[in-house]
Amino acid sequence: MTTEQYCDILNFTASGGKPDITQIEVLLSPPDAECEQKLFDTALKLKREIFGNLVNLRGLIEFSNICSCDCLYCGIRKSNPKVKRYQMSDEEILHSAKLASDFGYGAVVLQSGERSDRHFTGRVTQLLNKIAELPSPPAVTLSCGEQSLEVYKEWVAAGAKRYLLRIESATEEIFRRIHPESTTFANRKAALLRIREAGFQTGTGVMIGLPGQTLHHLARDIEFFRDMDIDMIGMGPFLPQSDTPMGDAPDDEQTVARRFSWSLRMIAVTRLVLKDVNIASTTALQTIDPENGRERGLLAGANVIMPNVGDISYRRDYQLYNGKPALDENGREIREKLLESLRKIGEVPRWDASGDPPHFARRTNS
Ligand code: 5AD
Repeated sequence: MTTEQYCDILNFTASGGKPDITQIEVLLSPPDAECEQKLFDTALKLKREIFGNLVNLRGLIEFSNICSCDCLYCGIRKSNPKVKRYQMSDEEILHSAKLASDFGYGAVVLQSGERSDRHFTGRVTQLLNKIAELPSPPAVTLSCGEQSLEVYKEWVAAGAKRYLLRIESATEEIFRRIHPESTTFANRKAALLRIREAGFQTGTGVMIGLPGQTLHHLARDIEFFRDMDIDMIGMGPFLPQSDTPMGDAPDDEQTVARRFSWSLRMIAVTRLVLKDVNIASTTALQTIDPENGRERGLLAGANVIMPNVGDISYRRDYQLYNGKPALDENGREIREKLLESLRKIGEVPRWDASGDPPHFARRTNS
């Protein structure tokens, strides 16, 4: 692949062409550092044409780490005995939601381990009702795993707008390798379709740099996002968690650097291929590069950041992976640092806005 050939495909895609899987894989494989920078710059330019230099902020509330799943990579998997399980109280959750709204975030993400018992799903419904009664209620995104269509509809009726459920890998063989038999690719994909059917703005994503995963697999992930007509994407590097079965995956400097740069490339190529979707610059990027990780995600075409607004006392018990940043910082400190770093890269928070992906309006109007 020469620089010229690479630029041809980049320009073809940037000017509205629809790249096939082979071309997506090429886009993910810039032949040199200059082409890679050109990829990031082109994606940033498109992001700014669509969203200006605005970044949507969502206050993240990790409200419980009790989980019925046993994903091989995840620190809060049910058979990790080292985790102290918690549930935030309704008051604590409402306090965090109000804080997010007072901070001008305009939206919150309520994330938890996956549970499908009625006690849990009913409680989420009640919480949504209470959040809707706040003086200036933030838009709510839920991230609580696979549920029935009934439950998803109940949550939409109670006011939730968006839902995040990662496919983790769109290659079934990789999906199978990183999950127990009870968590199947077919069920995960069906749940995503139910989320959309229930009326949610639908978000998914993948982990990047999983053992055995190549740029070809990542190209398939982007094709999956496109085929599923997804509205929002959240993805980041795989980070081995020492108390999990995948905890001894390679984690040397070179591997980590590759996961990081592949993650930035995934953001950029996803922006170019999907265009008007929301793309998050995730905490996992910040974990690898605490000073500039999330900022570099934005400069590669992301437009969403999810600063934590939960109570510090629970932060340590929600470690999906090792090295989670800002364990000791409260919501206010996190906000100040974030504002400072956004200033440095010329991006501005979009205050008090729900921040809907234009793609959702386009999809539902047509
Ligand atoms: N490394 C990176 N991401 C992880 N997640 C869970 N465990 C890890 C890990 N070890 C991600 C999954 C999940 C999301 C909530 O966190 O993609 O969907």
